Amino acid sequence: MKERIEIIELFKGNIEGKIDKEICVKGWVRSKRGNKNVVFIALNDGTIIDNLQIVVDLNSFSEELLKDITTGSSLMVEGLLVRSMGKGQSVELQAKNITIYGLADADTYPLQKKGHTLEFLREIAHLRPRTNTFGAVFRIRHNMAFAIHKFFNERGFFYWHSPLITASDAEGAGQMFSVTTLDLDNVPKDDKGKVDYSKDFYGKKTSLTVSGQLEGELGALALGKIYTFGPTFRAENSNTPRHLSEFWMIEPEMAFYDLKDNMLLAEEFIKYLIKYALDNCIEDIIFLQSMYDKELIERLNFVVNNDFISLDYTDAIKILETSNEKFEYPIFWGCDLQSEHERFLVEKHFKKPVILINYPKDIKAFYMKQNDDGKTVGAMDVLFPKIGEIIGGSQREEDMDKLVSRMKEVGILPEDMSWYLDTRRFGSVPHSGFGLGFERLLLFVTGMSNIRDVIPFPRTPKNAEF
Ligand code: 4AD
Ligand code: MG
Repeated sequence: MKERIEIIELFKGNIEGKIDKEICVKGWVRSKRGNKNVVFIALNDGTIIDNLQIVVDLNSFSEELLKDITTGSSLMVEGLLVRSMGKGQSVELQAKNITIYGLADADTYPLQKKGHTLEFLREIAHLRPRTNTFGAVFRIRHNMAFAIHKFFNERGFFYWHSPLITASDAEGAGQMFSVTTLDLDNVPKDDKGKVDYSKDFYGKKTSLTVSGQLEGELGALALGKIYTFGPTFRAENSNTPRHLSEFWMIEPEMAFYDLKDNMLLAEEFIKYLIKYALDNCIEDIIFLQSMYDKELIERLNFVVNNDFISLDYTDAIKILETSNEKFEYPIFWGCDLQSEHERFLVEKHFKKPVILINYPKDIKAFYMKQNDDGKTVGAMDVLFPKIGEIIGGSQREEDMDKLVSRMKEVGILPEDMSWYLDTRRFGSVPHSGFGLGFERLLLFVTGMSNIRDVIPFPRTPKNAEF
């Protein structure tokens, strides 16, 4: 048997020594066409969007064998690699030997035709990675994950693992999934009739984390600069194209960074990632642009090449109030901005990414740095075209007394979080951080418009298939 070559090598590697030699490829059939004399099989092995054309001379192969080979079948093909006359491909393989690994029944394999809708493909999320679209999306997803580690490693950040199971609600929004081993048909109760969590696995009420930040702060106040990158869970009942109940978040946290340093890092980070995608995933991006979003590459270049605008929440409210736009949700100082407001600022008013800072304290989490005006906190949200909020972050309140009084105001018992407060009790320093939603980044980079289409197995309300 010849040495197997991955198809990416044939299109992107140095093939000089391989032309007119026998090689072996393995992959799945994307399509088959031909006539009485010759059959062309488009073979894809997932390494690259391009298919390798396999040329099968019917004088040397039985029709019986070829009849069984249909879209979705998996093959090993040995043959002669030759330069191709055909348009759009540099090489093709003249088959000498075909081995079938597995057939795919033509009557039941769901990916027969081209042009399935994204909605249909979501119903077969277990098979959609075999389409051009999802192959492209998931190769980009991998590249973005790699670039994230590369970015932070090059800047001296340490990858820090926060727990997924937690007893605290970092964002204070209460949208948590419980983790329990109690028998739900026979829940132990205390003498007040409340669930007795002391009988539960951890001896207290626990949930899946909504953010790794609080534990991230402990890392930053020891190692200086850390980042987390892991799954995050939110039981918010939002059926929107931008929300998942299980998503991935990247949360850098830096000691001695103020809000300004935090904003600069966020802008540098996101530009680095987009540039990395343009430099390393361009074939996949070109494909997605041709299918879904004609302005994709233009938009990506625009973000890389332009400075973000930064502006106070209060000024943004003024702009929104005096705009002549009809919004569904009302605008007033103190309101939580909706995606329609964010997109107006970014897409219509400034026409660039916007970093909104200094939000009212009542719509933000307890840990944010309290500004001297007594009304706002040192928060920052990065708003992107098409996406709205892509990053949320802040400088953190490092003053123990201020932090504790804010916790009490919002109903968090300081004694429940004494481990967190120890950062302020012992050697507290100014520090900042932010969270980038990985799938929101992917929406932007791929040009896809539904967040369910940038994660292999989406989790949303009433949907935990596969
Ligand atoms: O703004 P959020 O809630 O911020 C935090 O969790 C902070 N602890 C981050 C930090 O400062 N370390 O979430 C951060 C980002 C959002 O901007 C958004 O991109 C993404 O996480 N996100 C979601 N992505 C998909 N589905 C959801 N349900 C999301 N909720 C937030
Ligand atoms: Mg947010």
